[in-house]
Amino acid sequence: MKKPRIVAFINFKGGVGKTANVVNIGACLAKYHRKKVLIIDIDAQCNATFWVLKRKQLSQRLEDPSRTVYQVFHDHIAGTKLFDFENSVIRGVPVSDEGFPYIAQLDILPSSIDLMSIEERFSGMQGKPYFAALHSGLKDCVKEYDYVLIDCPPNIYGISKNALYFADYYVVPYLPDFLSLSGFRLFSKLVQKFQYQVSGYQNKKFNPRICAVIINRYRSIGNVFDQSVNELKLEMRNLKTQKLIHQCSAILTPYIRDCVRVAECSNAHQPVIIYGEKSIGAYDYFKLSDAFINHIEEIIWAC
Ligand SMILES: Nc1ncnc2c1ncn2[C@@H]1O[C@H](COP(=O)(O)OP(=O)(O)OP(=O)(O)O)[C@@H](O)[C@H]1O
Ligand SMILES: [Mg+2]
Repeated sequence: MKKPRIVAFINFKGGVGKTANVVNIGACLAKYHRKKVLIIDIDAQCNATFWVLKRKQLSQRLEDPSRTVYQVFHDHIAGTKLFDFENSVIRGVPVSDEGFPYIAQLDILPSSIDLMSIEERFSGMQGKPYFAALHSGLKDCVKEYDYVLIDCPPNIYGISKNALYFADYYVVPYLPDFLSLSGFRLFSKLVQKFQYQVSGYQNKKFNPRICAVIINRYRSIGNVFDQSVNELKLEMRNLKTQKLIHQCSAILTPYIRDCVRVAECSNAHQPVIIYGEKSIGAYDYFKLSDAFINHIEEIIWAC
């Protein structure tokens, strides 16, 4: 039986392009590579949910957290089994004004602002591991997909750790500036520490899973961006030696350039390949989706 590639887009730094990458890569995988793709939004900010849903769909769903990923966490904490995937997943997003899906094979499991309460409730849990909610609640539901892309919040608390536990591969969206570099090193250490803590539970093997970095909002003005990308390459070499990141991890190319159409398309509730089909953002994401698939498949073969 085919196994979905479950990929968490994660970085504890905010505003680095996690959501933009999940939505735009997800759209390319579904449209150009004919993959069946599920986006799981686990950020209480609901940005991926907002990005791909029209206002009416959005308001209906936000009023009913039981039909969002919130219910998966609630069930795990409360010991209930109320989550219904079929009743919660939204298939064929986004839709046109006439109600037709632009991309048939792209689905989303939406988020809810109610996720804000979950971190606090994790701390009161006893006996059951807080980090296994997504894995227990969704592993059987996602089998129909080729790719499952998880949009994480900008932190590495309990909800994000659920994504780390559930996903096989971690992709780190990265803004090339000097401050991001030390954050990346620290982030790799925290991720490794968590993986060590949970290895062995339900037979999950320890295996560094940060496997790719995506450079976002790249600008070729001056040499700040190129210099910081070069420093990142050096740092990744060190981190591989220390086994903090996957031996095959790489910076994917092309870099996603800063693009007005990418910045605008969330407000149009569309990925850039629909909203700005001829823009550099659409071109970059189209090319990057090729690199993304090849890289994930290479890593699977290498292991
Ligand atoms: N290549 C790009 N060109 C122009 N704007 C971009 C690009 N990528 C992302 N943006 C914009 O940058 C902002 C931050 O991006 P995004 O929301 O994807 O980051 P994030 O890491 O998910 O943020 P958060 O940590 O809050 O979840 C958004 O307004 C988005 O539209
Ligand atoms: Mg986001």
